[in-house]
Amino acid sequence: MAVFNAGSINIDHVYAVDHFVQPGETLASRDYRLFCGGKGFNQSIALARAGAKVHHVGCIGSDGDWLRARLQREGVDTRWIQTVDAPTGHAIIQVVPDGENSIIITAGANNKFSANDIPQLLNHFTPQDTLLLQNEINGVADFILAAAENGQKVSFNPAPMTEAVKAYPLDKLDCLILNAVEAAALTGETEHETAMQSLHRALPKTCIVLTLGKAGAWLIDGDQEIRQPAFAVQAVDTTAAGDTFIGFFLAERERGGQLHEALRIASRAASICVTRRGAADSIPQYREIG
Ligand code: RIB
Repeated sequence: MAVFNAGSINIDHVYAVDHFVQPGETLASRDYRLFCGGKGFNQSIALARAGAKVHHVGCIGSDGDWLRARLQREGVDTRWIQTVDAPTGHAIIQVVPDGENSIIITAGANNKFSANDIPQLLNHFTPQDTLLLQNEINGVADFILAAAENGQKVSFNPAPMTEAVKAYPLDKLDCLILNAVEAAALTGETEHETAMQSLHRALPKTCIVLTLGKAGAWLIDGDQEIRQPAFAVQAVDTTAAGDTFIGFFLAERERGGQLHEALRIASRAASICVTRRGAADSIPQYREIG
């Protein structure tokens, strides 16, 4: 059993700022660093560090070989990463002193999946494998449909949320993991309770996990409902906290672990992630979880 993660690979330009830049303002940063990132990339690293067998399916430009090499060093199978004729995707990230961030992404190579290749790619996987997707590549709906056709389970993180997500075949999902902003945009409900009820009603067979930052996480899967409080820590950078949560949660679920334990491990991993700077670089090793 393995996780095939079809997801973005980005170069993250991270600026430490006193406040998010305002309209018309030019703002000097206190610090600048370059990190590897991308929601797909980060989730592959989190899965690998949590002990899952993970294959990354992705597209990079000729400037992205170092990102492929990094995934290889982390134990991720990179044979399905293609080099295409476009620059590697990148993100401009502002981080303010309390650790909150704001992110602009440019897809670049991440939007170069060919619709014709998707069914063929998925034919390399077995029905026991899980396909993981975020919303930072093109062809997400095609991936969901092709995997469902093959009997493969699909987990989806609709980040970043776009209008197009509403038309994706979400009823085919085994697991939907999203944050409060994404849940509100998807359901039109700003209250967590109503948004969760609405998602569960619309997708009764899907395990739904709502991540709520400092307020923890909430899962509904059939008759099971679990609320996981967050671990209290001093955050310096919340980038990739959601990606860390998803990787550790799915790894534990793939191992056949209990859902409440998967939630606890994922929350602990995310709480460690926010105490460190960067995206993939801030993801903990499994031995740190405790
Ligand atoms: O979730 C964090 C990630 O979002 C960053 O690494 C950035 O690349 C964007 O994709």
